[in-house]
Amino acid sequence: MPDRPIRIAVAGPAGRLGSAILRAASGRDVELVAGLLRPGSEAVGMDLGAFTGSGDSGVKATDDLDAAVQNADVLIDVSTAAAAADHAAKLAERGGPALIVGATGFDAEDERAIRESASAIPILKAQNFSLGVTLLTAFVERASEILGEEWDIEILEMHHRAKADAPSGTARMLGEAAARGRGIELDDNAETGAARDGMPGPRTRGDIGFAVLRGGGVVGDHEVHFAAQEEMLTLAHRAFDRALFAKGAIVAARWMRGRAPGLYGMRDVVGL
Ligand SMILES: NC(=O)c1ccc[n+]([C@@H]2O[C@H](COP(=O)([O-])OP(=O)(O)OC[C@H]3O[C@@H](n4cnc5c(N)ncnc54)[C@H](OP(=O)(O)O)[C@@H]3O)[C@@H](O)[C@H]2O)c1
Repeated sequence: MPDRPIRIAVAGPAGRLGSAILRAASGRDVELVAGLLRPGSEAVGMDLGAFTGSGDSGVKATDDLDAAVQNADVLIDVSTAAAAADHAAKLAERGGPALIVGATGFDAEDERAIRESASAIPILKAQNFSLGVTLLTAFVERASEILGEEWDIEILEMHHRAKADAPSGTARMLGEAAARGRGIELDDNAETGAARDGMPGPRTRGDIGFAVLRGGGVVGDHEVHFAAQEEMLTLAHRAFDRALFAKGAIVAARWMRGRAPGLYGMRDVVGL
């Protein structure tokens, strides 16, 4: 074990996932050093314990990025995609610390900011911190590689009613794995909800379809269907508790310790 705990700052500590990470950031080798809020948030100055209901932690929330990361080895960012892209650029400029991006819903510009920043600092981008989903991604890539284009690929996801982006970052990640397996680009072959309204006509051969459900408190369900004329293979994952993402984020933080600049993913963490 390293001689001192890994020091973690969390962006978005009052959110659903952020507060779960605060709860999971305990143990002899992990130390929670900061919580970074939206600029101007009314929660500035509050003890992080207020977000977990677990009593005082001795760490006050701030909206100042420099103050949040000055004593941190890694910033785990589970705020929003736009904020995470901005944080990545600023951390690259100041030369660290390492960044783990768990927020989802990136546009092309945000993606570029993350990629560019990764030439200066280590960045791990995880659309999904779950070990199960990381394995599912590898299985989907392999299945897609083995099965030909006559097997239609349809990806279905369901999340809680408050989720902002769609399809989920994980659904997109599964689509990218399927596209990689086939040697095609997802962006040229993705078919999402709006394109299927009305009279879209027959399915385009080779397309990767997405369907989105929203409701209740569903933490995150993903199914990838490979449908041929006479049979169908379905690979699926179900998250029961947000704590699983928080645990995965802490595993990723431990793995990030001492990494060189570059862009990493959960598949690197589990060695896939
Ligand atoms: N990688 C994974 O395994 C995984 C799993 C689940 C969710 N996610 C993703 O993680 C993100 C957060 O999800 P959630 O369910 O926790 O959402 P949430 O409950 O809405 O939490 C997001 C938090 O970020 C804060 N925030 C907004 N802008 C910020 C900024 N500039 N700096 C710092 N904090 C800021 C928000 O504060 P205000 O309310 O004050 O705006 C809010 O407290 C989403 O993108 C979600 O899709 C990833």
